[in-house]
Amino acid sequence: MKRVLSGMQPSGQPTLGNYIGAMKNYVELQHTHDCYFMVVDLHAITVPQEPAALKEQTESVTALYIAAGIDPAKATVFLQSHVHQHAELGWLLTTLTYMGELERMTQFKDKSEGKESVGTGLFTYPSLMAADILLYNADLVPVGDDQKQHLELTRDLAHRFNQRFGDTFTIPEPYIPKVGARIMSLDDASKKMSKSNPNQGSFIAMLDEPAVIRKKISRAVTDSGREVKFDPQNKPEVSNLMSIYAQCSNKSIAEIEALYDGQGYGPFKKDLAEHVVSVLEPIQQRYKDIRQSGELYAILRQGAERAGEQAEKMIRVAREKMGFLVL
Ligand code: TYM
Repeated sequence: MKRVLSGMQPSGQPTLGNYIGAMKNYVELQHTHDCYFMVVDLHAITVPQEPAALKEQTESVTALYIAAGIDPAKATVFLQSHVHQHAELGWLLTTLTYMGELERMTQFKDKSEGKESVGTGLFTYPSLMAADILLYNADLVPVGDDQKQHLELTRDLAHRFNQRFGDTFTIPEPYIPKVGARIMSLDDASKKMSKSNPNQGSFIAMLDEPAVIRKKISRAVTDSGREVKFDPQNKPEVSNLMSIYAQCSNKSIAEIEALYDGQGYGPFKKDLAEHVVSVLEPIQQRYKDIRQSGELYAILRQGAERAGEQAEKMIRVAREKMGFLVL
């Protein structure tokens, strides 16, 4: 069975972009693959986090994983900080990573732009991400489009390690959805939908109340035309809403175009809001139940144990190949 690994940062409320670009695929892949899904708390602290908020968001993202349909009996769900081998392999790979490679990373450029002092953790972030993936010999990594560059670097680091020290790591493949890999902001289709955008109307949080979702969608920016047509070049806002529609309704883009032919944006947006609510509302209900149940810690304990076993096997091999004395 092929192995899958992915992760999400507990650095704010997960959005519909996180769901469509990544989480939805986690849920699908767990039936056919040996899956590891983690909450990457060590990555979250590459930008300042308030300790109480970090703890709350870590629990919240874990609960959302389960609420979205990840079954801890099928997939291993864990926190990155609970498996110390991530930090260790992260360091080993940092020593193989070139400054120039990290300087080229667009996520680093975006997050450091205009800042007077930039933490070194933000810079070496991709080496730790490579460690996350290589530690499990993952074959497939479900991510949104914005993580493609980090995946490329992970592949390069795996090759580099293998060449220098002998075959060790599997070269992972990204698993990026055809529609919805890059859900854009509701107020500006040139920007990625992001939880860190100060304009709350620009994103739909997975935990937004249905009334809020309806309002945000009704206010989403569109062009002044009225044709519901998929044309990302000339109609980026409407095309973005159509991608969301397709992913929340299981209808194809062609079916959506046919459905709203000659009807304008009003009915399209109204139905879109209902499709989004129909996806998120049941997740929100399960989320409440899970948080109240107190099951999370047991799930994470079991996940840390399972992940830790795999991680320990790999780190031993990596240490040995690099020439560390292994007792
Ligand atoms: P993060 O926490 O920023 O996002 C989690 C996942 O959501 C996807 N995503 C989106 N997809 C479509 N449209 C959007 N607007 C959108 N916004 C976010 C991201 O591509 C991602 O798949 N570096 C990673 C976390 C990470 C990781 C890993 C991922 C750490 N280690 C190992 C995979 C494997 C990140 O910042 O994701």
